[in-house]
Amino acid sequence: MKKSQHRNNNNIFLHIHSDKTHKFSLRWNYTFGLGIMCMGLFFILSLSGLLLMIYYKPDTAKAYFSIKDLMYVIPSGRFVRNIHRWAAHLMVITCFLHMARVFYTSAYKRGREFNWNIGMVLFLLTLGLSFTGYLLPWDQLAYWACTIGVNIAASPTQLTDALGISAVVDIGTQMKHLLLGSDQIGNDALVRFYVLHCMLLPFLLMVFIGVHIWRIRKSRGLARPDWIESKWADGLSENDLVHTIPHTFVREFSIFMFILAITVSLAYFFDAPLKEPANPLVPENPAKAPWYFLGIQELVSYSGFTGGIVIPLMTLFGLSMIPYIDRGKKDFARWFGNGAGVRVTVTSVCYTVICCILLLGLSIGYNWPGIWFGNNRQSLIHFINPGTLLALMFTAWSLFVFHRHHSIRMGVTALFTCFFVGLVILTYFAWGHRGPNWDFYWWPSLWQHH
Ligand code: HEM
Repeated sequence: MKKSQHRNNNNIFLHIHSDKTHKFSLRWNYTFGLGIMCMGLFFILSLSGLLLMIYYKPDTAKAYFSIKDLMYVIPSGRFVRNIHRWAAHLMVITCFLHMARVFYTSAYKRGREFNWNIGMVLFLLTLGLSFTGYLLPWDQLAYWACTIGVNIAASPTQLTDALGISAVVDIGTQMKHLLLGSDQIGNDALVRFYVLHCMLLPFLLMVFIGVHIWRIRKSRGLARPDWIESKWADGLSENDLVHTIPHTFVREFSIFMFILAITVSLAYFFDAPLKEPANPLVPENPAKAPWYFLGIQELVSYSGFTGGIVIPLMTLFGLSMIPYIDRGKKDFARWFGNGAGVRVTVTSVCYTVICCILLLGLSIGYNWPGIWFGNNRQSLIHFINPGTLLALMFTAWSLFVFHRHHSIRMGVTALFTCFFVGLVILTYFAWGHRGPNWDFYWWPSLWQHH
């Protein structure tokens, strides 16, 4: 055995990758390195989290002050906390963008269906990790944001109440109890969130990242377009292969350094927030969920049950089914596929913006559906509200696109784009234009303080 070959056999990097990589997979404008960024951020989070654990105390009487010590007493504590906080936000964003890149390059087909679903699990675990970490500082922001998050989980109770069956089946309250260990966020909840955040969820994330990477290896690397695959089959493509070490290694390491540099710069210039200690008797007004749940919070403000449970669950189900519905062979591993793909994406963005402005405008300008339906028609609001109408409008649009193009891929592209852009608009709206009592304001400076 040659010396270099022996060295390769012992190289852990070459157990993850094959020893040669196709040049196409290294194109930065194909993946934008987003998957590697997610992994890099998870690594940064694990390391900085480990350092934070040395000082953090999961006890309602001490948690806030241990974070305060980290911020003001312990050398570099503030910096490490900032790194941890910004890396968590970045991981949610990059994970979201990575999912979009896999979708718009149709890279979920040909043996990658299962891996798309592993990706969905990774996405949920990432959200879970971020959410459980949010409570740990035990300040007003954390306490009330998590209260909102937990109320979203408990929202099936609104429907069972409306149906008058809560005494028999009350899934909402049961979910709340499971998460909090009691009726309210207190010490039990803090310990549960701590265990989930520091042990269970990182462990699961590690296992699922392992499976995700293993599946990529089993699919012979990243998805490649047909013109490359056919060349490969003819045995003409050897010239297009490069040695994984150094080429892939250097790319991946550079992506890691890039995301590390962004995280460290953010941590240097911007502090993670820490408000006054949590006080269950003084609610924040407005109490807003963490930003990645704000879109859902906006929907919940119309109807807890449809906005908090039905629409998110149906969206997740729809996402997980994408690879099984769209089995077309064309446009594999190409951004937006073809000209029609770009057109459908752009028109879907415009359509979504118009629908959102119309429905949000209607609900703000004319206080719809609150006043129109009145209090005695509450159960109607669960079914007819801006959230359900948006979902219907998006579905109708995707059916229209499907019929027009006779293409499932185009229909799915329209639906994915509508939900993606819709979520971004609702999130922005709830973040920037909702003030005290969840009323509409043009700017936070106009908030009437209570
Ligand atoms: C913690 C979250 C995640 C991590 C660490 C991760 C990591 C990665 C990495 C490193 C790659 C290969 C390189 C790249 O595309 O940049 C990849 C590819 C892939 N990811 Fe993820 N991913 C995550 C979440 C997701 C999500 C949310 C989805 C979709 C729902 C997804 C679906 C896929 C698929 C199908 C591939 C193969 C793409 C291809 O063959 O071109 N991943 N992922």
